[in-house]
Amino acid sequence: MVASIRVMTVLCDLPPRQGDRLPVSVFGLGYVGCVSAACLAARGHFVIGVDVNPTKIEFLRQGQSPVVEERIAELTAEVVRAGRLTVTTDPAEAVLGSDISMVCVGTPSAAGGGLSTRYLESVSEEIGAALACKDGWHVVVFRSTMVPGTCEKILIPVLERASGKRAGVDFGVCVNPEFLREGTSVWDFENPPKTVVGESDERSGSAVMGMYEGLGGPRFRVPIVVAEMTKYVDNSFHALKVTFANEIGALCATLGLDSHAVMDIFLADTKLNVSAAYLRPGFAFGGSCLPKDVRALIHTARKHDLELPVLTNVLVSNEMQIRRVVDSIVALGKRKIGVFGLAFKSGTDDLRESPLVELAERLIGKGFDVRIYDANVALSKLMGANRAYLDEHVPHIGQLLTGEIDAVLEHGEVFVAGTKDPGVVTAIDSLREDRIVIDLVRLPGAEERRLKPGYIGIGW
Ligand SMILES: NC(=O)c1ccc[n+]([C@@H]2O[C@H](COP(=O)([O-])OP(=O)(O)OC[C@H]3O[C@@H](n4cnc5c(N)ncnc54)[C@H](O)[C@@H]3O)[C@@H](O)[C@H]2O)c1
Repeated sequence: MVASIRVMTVLCDLPPRQGDRLPVSVFGLGYVGCVSAACLAARGHFVIGVDVNPTKIEFLRQGQSPVVEERIAELTAEVVRAGRLTVTTDPAEAVLGSDISMVCVGTPSAAGGGLSTRYLESVSEEIGAALACKDGWHVVVFRSTMVPGTCEKILIPVLERASGKRAGVDFGVCVNPEFLREGTSVWDFENPPKTVVGESDERSGSAVMGMYEGLGGPRFRVPIVVAEMTKYVDNSFHALKVTFANEIGALCATLGLDSHAVMDIFLADTKLNVSAAYLRPGFAFGGSCLPKDVRALIHTARKHDLELPVLTNVLVSNEMQIRRVVDSIVALGKRKIGVFGLAFKSGTDDLRESPLVELAERLIGKGFDVRIYDANVALSKLMGANRAYLDEHVPHIGQLLTGEIDAVLEHGEVFVAGTKDPGVVTAIDSLREDRIVIDLVRLPGAEERRLKPGYIGIGW
């Protein structure tokens, strides 16, 4: 207690900053911090860099970059010479001399694979202690990568405890993930793919966005936890892309093919391959092609004693998605289930490897009382097109299938929305409030629906 009062007295004795330009302090002068500090300074901001490593501080004080990156050496020398980038090891000096503190400390893996928040917590403690002595508004913006919930559950409480102030009221907190790639990070800073700011309050979000004024790319102002998640979505997708390409490469090489020539064709398809297609969360895939073709590719690899773990687990993951829905229904403890949709996707009557057929079969197997409505399948059943498939493969499902939507509506306590057909949407909208809807297709208005009790989105 005595020690903390002494620290506060020392902090509060520091002189206030001079001038009225927007100054930014950058905590943690590693790859992200050095590039952010130099690039922000080059854009006209006054930047104070802070690090616990005296060697890095000394390098920067002399205008040298402690990290190797294209253009960073020249840029650092220039902004230090111009007096736009100064450095200190004193966190209080940096906070009192700036309006925004950007935190770029490391977040390494902890034992067990979790994220270590050790450096984030100690820097928050230091910034919080300095905020206790600061009268003006200040924004703390976390640029470090952190798993969703870290800022609100761990860091804001540390900042509030150390400062004796309230986040979003007395000072602002933002999360502003960094999307640079080492090697081309200066270029990436100047040409961002996007800018994402998670904000505790509007004023802070505007101040942080304002630092990037004039830079291109789409901009998103979102809740803090969304900003945290964004970075993980990107990085896990990048990792998935690398491993996917490498598995294709391994298989091509085994088959005597040039994988780059193959991938040139893959990449040229910007409608279905390198595009937004197939990237919205929803129900499992199925149909006459995807499951069969993924299986055949894995089989081909196995014949050559080649392991393809990513592609092999695609089918495991798909199966998991069906299990998630079954588990959600079991957990509800209701027996009467109405299923809307049976074909593998809307607008077709094709039942081959339909995940909705698989779902219905599992529910029936578990003793649920199921009724199914699918207008296309019911029609083709009457007209004979799918009759053979229904009779031979899933005769028990054929008996539960109806073309009368009301019959399903009257039957169910829980409804599975497996299609967005307008008739189904209208039927779901007419349901009594005590009915439960499990949405596999993201029904129109899902943003509002998910806020209501009795609605369960499969991935939202
Ligand atoms: N390196 C990348 O390409 C990259 C890209 C995007 C995001 N990120 C994320 O950004 C964060 C930083 O990454 P990095 O590669 O720049 O880390 P880094 O390890 O290179 O640098 C971190 C710096 O923080 C300093 N530091 C630690 N505690 C401090 C404190 N209390 N006060 C001041 N400085 C302190 C360290 O001395 C070090 O210089 C991580 O969360 C990382 O996941 C990194």
